[in-house]
Amino acid sequence: MFPESGPVWMFRGSETSVTAPKMPGAKNILVIHGPNLNLLGARETRHYGRDTLKAIDLRLKRRAKEGGVRLETYQSNSESELVDRIQRARREAVDFIIINPAAYTHTSVALRDALAAVGIPFVEVHLSNVFARESFRRESYFTDIAVGIISGLGAKAYELALEFALQYSGKRG
Ligand code: DQA
Repeated sequence: MFPESGPVWMFRGSETSVTAPKMPGAKNILVIHGPNLNLLGARETRHYGRDTLKAIDLRLKRRAKEGGVRLETYQSNSESELVDRIQRARREAVDFIIINPAAYTHTSVALRDALAAVGIPFVEVHLSNVFARESFRRESYFTDIAVGIISGLGAKAYELALEFALQYSGKRG
């Protein structure tokens, strides 16, 4: 189903690019970064590139400002903090989540359940191509409940996910 190597960029249904039909778009976006992503820029740069998390977040905030939408970024190394942050998103009327669950992608039923519970549409993002690495990275607890997944396009993935969110028309589940 997935190529052995090279970038993977897919969206559920018939959408194959971020060029979506005219729609209202998300207005209150939360970007969540999982464990060890605070080390971006220094960590395994062959997989994750040289951009720091701060630089990535700054670009997202700039773009959100341009688009006139609210965007908050959050990083934690703790599963429970990430669950709490997702639960809080519902109370804050967040209408779209961009999440890189990092290592929790492959382990965390708790994070999956939190996202399912709040029913906020989300895109799963990975800097590296998780399908072209160790076999355990091909398993995700999120993909089947995500709107889509972007994997293997480096830090650009977050920006592409944001462009998608800015045009997203779907309703909360
Ligand atoms: C990652 C891929 C995961 O397998 C890994 O545990 C990460 C980062 C990525 O962005 O490519 O920490 O989510």
